[in-house]
Amino acid sequence: MEVSCGVHSWISFVPAAFTLALTLGLTRAAPTARADDATRGLALLQHFPDSLPRNGGNTLRCTSCHLDDGRRELAMPWVGVTTRYPKYRARRGAIETIEQRVNECITRSLAGRALAEDGRDMRDMVSYLHTLQSTQVIVRPDSVRVDGDPGRGAGAYKTTCARCHGPKALGALSPAVAGRHSFSIGAGMARQRVLATFIRWNMPHDMPGTLAVQDAADIAAWVLRLPRPDHPGKERDWPNGDVPIDVAYATDGAGVRGLPLPAPRPLLRRMVAPTPPTSP
Ligand code: HEC
Ligand code: HEC
Repeated sequence: MEVSCGVHSWISFVPAAFTLALTLGLTRAAPTARADDATRGLALLQHFPDSLPRNGGNTLRCTSCHLDDGRRELAMPWVGVTTRYPKYRARRGAIETIEQRVNECITRSLAGRALAEDGRDMRDMVSYLHTLQSTQVIVRPDSVRVDGDPGRGAGAYKTTCARCHGPKALGALSPAVAGRHSFSIGAGMARQRVLATFIRWNMPHDMPGTLAVQDAADIAAWVLRLPRPDHPGKERDWPNGDVPIDVAYATDGAGVRGLPLPAPRPLLRRMVAPTPPTSP
């Protein structure tokens, strides 16, 4: 009685407009939904291992490969990507949502641990991807399809790449392209044609587009013979056996179809498991 009376008389001193603002403010601050934050999402994409150390597995950032914050046409652009999902993906053999696709790059390209699909970090990153809508038609670069010679690639790597990525490709000024801090064997980038195409059009970083197709293929072939993190469960990829020719590991689906299996590659134990240990 006493107390409620006290509150009431205090409120009566507050001008009506302020009371209204206060009430609205309180309602807005009240629990539940926080607006998606694309600016925070971009910061996570640019600084993934520093911002989300529990989920990062190597030293790469999302924007190490998706250059210019996902805007560069020649580097797997994110422009319009949220309108392309959900879509069927042969690697999973099922329809994939944009959140699942992002987790694929976290667990494979970043050799990290998946994020909760409905959590704030995922929502903010996807919210940034949503901002990259465009009516512009994305022109994909020509794929490099020639076979590479790792012997020649070793020499070409030394002259063209070592100054930034280090003599053994373990990272220096620029991130690792092999070893513990590089993308896992299950990453798209660990496919020879995908890597060769990326470096043909985007590397060296300060002179993109200057590398000959054959050099790009040779360098990719050499880089992919170096040890890199494993991706547990990779044998279940392409369950229907429609596995691309440049995939570096044996899959059950290819075995069932009697396709030739690639030679084993040297693999490193991962620093984190791909899926959260207690996923809800
Ligand atoms: C090691 C390089 C690399 C890193 C690092 C990387 N990605 Fe990717 N990403 C790729 C490649 C390669 C593809 C396949 C592109 C394609 O299918 O044309 C891809 C595809 C994607 C796609 C689907 C694009 C499409 O058009 O279907 C999304 C979304 C994506 N990545 C998000 C991310 C996010 C988010 C991160 C960080 C958590 C990340 N990637 C880190 C290499 C990388
Ligand atoms: C002038 C320095 C420089 C040179 C030379 C250079 N790169 Fe890069 N490279 C970079 C930078 C910078 C990035 C983006 C890194 C980032 O933003 O985190 C990058 C990214 C990459 C990536 C994707 C991220 C990763 O580490 O896996 C690959 C693969 C790559 N470079 C391979 C090569 C290859 C192969 C060559 C030689 C043909 C080469 N680079 C030459 C600076 C360089």
